[in-house]
Amino acid sequence: MVSADCLDHAIMPAHRYEQLVQSVVDYAIYMLDPTGHVVSWNAGAQRIKGYRADEVIGQHFSLFFTPQDRTEGRPERLLRQALEQGVAQDEGWRVRKDGTQFWALVGLDVIRDDQGQVVGLAKVTRDITDRRESALQLDAMRAQLFQAQKLEALGQLTGGLAHDFNNMLTIIISSARLALATQDPARAQRMLQHILDAGQRGTELTQQLLSFARHRKLDVACVAPANLIAATRGLLEHALPGSIDLRVLVQPDLPLIEVDAGQLQMVLLNLLFNARDAITGQGRIGLTVDVAELAGEVEGLRGGFVRFEVEDNGEGIAPAVLPRIFEPFFTTKPFGKGTGLGLSQVYGFARQSGGAICVDSEPGRGTCMQLYLPIHQDRTDSQLDR
Ligand SMILES: Nc1ncnc2c1ncn2[C@@H]1O[C@H](COP(=O)(O)OP(=O)(O)OP(=O)(O)O)[C@@H](O)[C@H]1O
Ligand SMILES: [Mg+2]
Repeated sequence: MVSADCLDHAIMPAHRYEQLVQSVVDYAIYMLDPTGHVVSWNAGAQRIKGYRADEVIGQHFSLFFTPQDRTEGRPERLLRQALEQGVAQDEGWRVRKDGTQFWALVGLDVIRDDQGQVVGLAKVTRDITDRRESALQLDAMRAQLFQAQKLEALGQLTGGLAHDFNNMLTIIISSARLALATQDPARAQRMLQHILDAGQRGTELTQQLLSFARHRKLDVACVAPANLIAATRGLLEHALPGSIDLRVLVQPDLPLIEVDAGQLQMVLLNLLFNARDAITGQGRIGLTVDVAELAGEVEGLRGGFVRFEVEDNGEGIAPAVLPRIFEPFFTTKPFGKGTGLGLSQVYGFARQSGGAICVDSEPGRGTCMQLYLPIHQDRTDSQLDR
């Protein structure tokens, strides 16, 4: 408990309050009379709104509102609310002396004398334009990134998948017709086997797609690279048109890595989409997974790493473009085709996982992207079913 004695010492003389209020520059703190005219003005008010005290004292506070807000009676409403309820809060655009606008967070509190009579209102305004803009930007970025990551990948996959499902259904329907029409039990058996195989392929593919679509939260665990490739291979193949030949080479007995499996799938898809986009007509893409010992030659990394290499024989990257490819929103693709977020996401993932991404490219010959991810030290702690 605070004693009365202490409180006496704590009470500040009026001129000290004045000094305190005057020295605040991040908040506009001023007083209004009960009709809404400015009575006092601090340094913060001058800094934020641009008016000097002698220009503004005596003016109605509606001066700071936008013309539209004034027409709609917003200042009067705010004043009325404060007088009736003792306090009012507002957030919105306000106008500076030079006509520019800022996004303000406003508090209005009624001040009463000892008899309870309203003597005025204390008004505190903060300029939170930067905060609002960064919050808006962050939201937009998140939305865009999410869009770019999942929906786009799924969108790109569905074309190929629809085509394949159609093939499977064709097999199922024609085999069923033949089985119904034949008198030969051995032939009917064969047809039923075709139906079963096609149905199972369809189920596997649907499961891969669903597990990819569902994977939401960041979930770092021990991953066996070969299993991850096997579980993603169907999707990887369907990301490519028939004119592109995909060769997957996974070194046997690869060590475990500790990453988010869903993100790694997304990263591999991104690299594959880029390789695909670089190829016009016929082409080749190689996905190789092996082990590399680094001694500082790749971004100063040392030790054992699993290396995922995606190599294409597409158009390659011009030397002038090369330094920029990992920048967010950098793209050379036409509007609507690329967001420029794929490689920045790959880069972020590699860094976050303690690894690196390298590029080697020559215009006209192709591009090789190498993703290094550190080998997980404790090999017994495995979760091989991912
Ligand atoms: N394998 C590649 N071959 C040629 N150019 C590439 C390759 N990979 C990336 N690039 C170049 O790098 C740029 C940036 O790639 P990034 O994946 O970040 O964005 P994007 O593919 O343009 O768009 P998004 O991935 O968001 O759909 C591409 O626009 C392209 O110019
Ligand atoms: Mg891309």
